[in-house]
Amino acid sequence: MERLSGRVAVVTGAGSGIGRALAERFAAEGMGVAIADIEEEPLEDVRRDLAGRGAPVVAQVLDVGDERAVHTFADRVFDHFGAVHLLCNNAGVFSGGQIWSRPARDFAWTLQVNLWGVLHGIQAFVPRMIEGGDEGHVVNTASVAGLFASPFSGPYSISKFAAYAATECLAHELVITGSKLRASALCPGGVATRIHQSDRNRPATTPTAPSDDQAFVDQVIADTVAGGIPPEQVADQVVDAVRTQRFLILTHDTYRPGLTARATALTADALPDLPTYEPHN
Ligand SMILES: NC(=O)c1ccc[n+]([C@@H]2O[C@H](COP(=O)([O-])OP(=O)(O)OC[C@H]3O[C@@H](n4cnc5c(N)ncnc54)[C@H](O)[C@@H]3O)[C@@H](O)[C@H]2O)c1
Repeated sequence: MERLSGRVAVVTGAGSGIGRALAERFAAEGMGVAIADIEEEPLEDVRRDLAGRGAPVVAQVLDVGDERAVHTFADRVFDHFGAVHLLCNNAGVFSGGQIWSRPARDFAWTLQVNLWGVLHGIQAFVPRMIEGGDEGHVVNTASVAGLFASPFSGPYSISKFAAYAATECLAHELVITGSKLRASALCPGGVATRIHQSDRNRPATTPTAPSDDQAFVDQVIADTVAGGIPPEQVADQVVDAVRTQRFLILTHDTYRPGLTARATALTADALPDLPTYEPHN
């Protein structure tokens, strides 16, 4: 989708980090923007900021894991703007630890946000985007942890593999059914956001004290994020991918050799090596 100006974007997880940068970038492109987040104050801060720049904006506090809330949000957005052209299912949380040690509720919470949040977004918006008859694009935020299984990050990596798979299925289905929509999987490496503080959004019903294995990976994630690229750089890459209809948005080129090595290892029935990580490329 080459032209963004005058069109409408939806961004979940827009109160912080990558989501905020996406919303700001889309507004700067002249788009109307519908933003959603589970955190009220940060979302209101972004809403005020965008409105202050003259962008048409709708903001909704919601949990992307709540199917009904996402559909109600979609109703509100279509009522307000009449159409949606760019859907970014971006809200996400990190939860790590050794796969045999983490309680089921950690997996459930992470899947509820990172997988079901994406599925609810697709189901609430895509049918009406197709019906609208315009060209459009869906960008789902997965992760490099959705391309390389990341040890000590089981709940997160499983959810991101699933989000990635949902996006690849969606992309094929959009093409096969002759739709004018396209889809991209956003797979960031380290980005300087608040993802390492995801526990701030952990539901009250799922408290867990960090275990040693969790504390270890939490520190790795905090270091990765601290050395990460700015979220605005990710927003630039997303806009470019939407305009050029690229499926995979890999924010860090340093992971490309690892993808090739992964495919080679798998075709030889071997356990793939872990990719080497360099934050700034
Ligand atoms: N930062 C990184 O290094 C990195 C790397 C790979 C993938 N990602 C992915 O990028 C996406 C954005 O994360 P970020 O890095 O900007 O982190 P962030 O914590 O700064 O932003 C995530 C946003 O999602 C919101 N959110 C969390 N749970 C929610 C829920 N249930 N419903 C609605 N909103 C919810 C948070 O309030 C927050 O505003 C996530 O999907 C994350 O997994 C980030």
